[in-house]
Amino acid sequence: MAKYPKFLMEHFQNPRNVGEIPDADGVGTVGNASCGDIMQMFIKVNGDKIVEAKFKTFGCGAAIATSSILTERIKGMTVDEALKISDETSREVLSQLPKEKVPCFTLAMDALKLAIEECRCKLAGIHDKGGFDSTKLEKD
Ligand code: FES
Repeated sequence: MAKYPKFLMEHFQNPRNVGEIPDADGVGTVGNASCGDIMQMFIKVNGDKIVEAKFKTFGCGAAIATSSILTERIKGMTVDEALKISDETSREVLSQLPKEKVPCFTLAMDALKLAIEECRCKLAGIHDKGGFDSTKLEKD
């Protein structure tokens, strides 16, 4: 059985920010091709600061723990800072995960990046609530 560091086990046993944000400004949904699991990340912003972050997953313990860590760390940050801290978190977590669990962490990271991307589009006015408006892209 793989050995996990204490901080990952703690987040697996007591995951934070599980659930969804109904009026999220950004939602990222990705699937893990190697196991078929699904991850969804939700973020809510005020201005460009992330005021709430939640996740839902059908993933394994590593996916749960890493999503819990990511959602904890990005709260209160701007979306740009969140991307930066996500990269730092990546290095920290990936160095301590068993090799076969790396795609589980990547799942959380990818979902977060998609959520941030959607949020940025909304902030830039090229993504309306309820659907993507490609006509606004042509104006830029
Ligand atoms: Fe599927 Fe980890 S085994 S997300």
